[in-house]
Amino acid sequence: MEQQMQLDDPGVFGGPIDEDRLRAYWDSMSPSYAPGADTGLVRFSHHRQHGAALRLAEPAAGQSVLDAGAGSGLLTRRLVDLGCEVTAVDASEAMIAQLREVSPSAQVGRLETLALDTTFDRVMAIGVLNFVCDPADVLRRLCRHVKPGGILVLQVTEWSLFGLTYWINYWLKGFKPFLFSRDWLTRMVRRYGFEPAGYEHPLPHDLTIAFRRRADAEG
Ligand SMILES: C[S@@+](CC[C@H](N)C(=O)[O-])C[C@H]1O[C@@H](n2cnc3c(N)ncnc32)[C@H](O)[C@@H]1O
Repeated sequence: MEQQMQLDDPGVFGGPIDEDRLRAYWDSMSPSYAPGADTGLVRFSHHRQHGAALRLAEPAAGQSVLDAGAGSGLLTRRLVDLGCEVTAVDASEAMIAQLREVSPSAQVGRLETLALDTTFDRVMAIGVLNFVCDPADVLRRLCRHVKPGGILVLQVTEWSLFGLTYWINYWLKGFKPFLFSRDWLTRMVRRYGFEPAGYEHPLPHDLTIAFRRRADAEG
């Protein structure tokens, strides 16, 4: 099913997302996301991306973490090794099947309907926001799952010249992911009581950005 997305804002580019096609794509990609199966440039990219995410999230033993769009759990495993209590969610059944051995509570679910009955010290959405149908609403949902004083970490492909190169690569495969500017992400999450807490560019087209929820934030 192809969903139309209207984001009348210069800080966003891309869409609409064909969710059935995309889910089939990520199912087919799951073998290459198996721990140890990522080699060469893919491994280098994961190393850079997850390193930046962990530096910005500053996770500590005993903290609760939501890994939203967790894939096969490459980052989940590192969080579990640090002693975090991780809840992992991903739309791909094939990805989640690989994750259950490290996180038995891992759930199949789309971020478009994310509504867990709890909040977390850390919420990580690494490499997933570009692929959701309604990024503004998914951001709202992610924000609502962060405890006051907690940290939200997003890793996205940026709306930039390098990001556009990445976008063309997906477009050639029949997808139109969204690209985001840092300014757009910041404006969106400020609405929910978040302040910028740092960012990195782990790869030329990637932005990893952290926001801390104000201690007095409500809702
Ligand atoms: C690039 S992978 C990133 C996986 C993981 N976060 C990592 O860093 O290794 C993107 C993941 O997002 C998931 N995904 C895509 N759209 C989604 C959606 N709407 N809701 C939940 N997960 C989604 C895919 O199934 C895939 O596992």
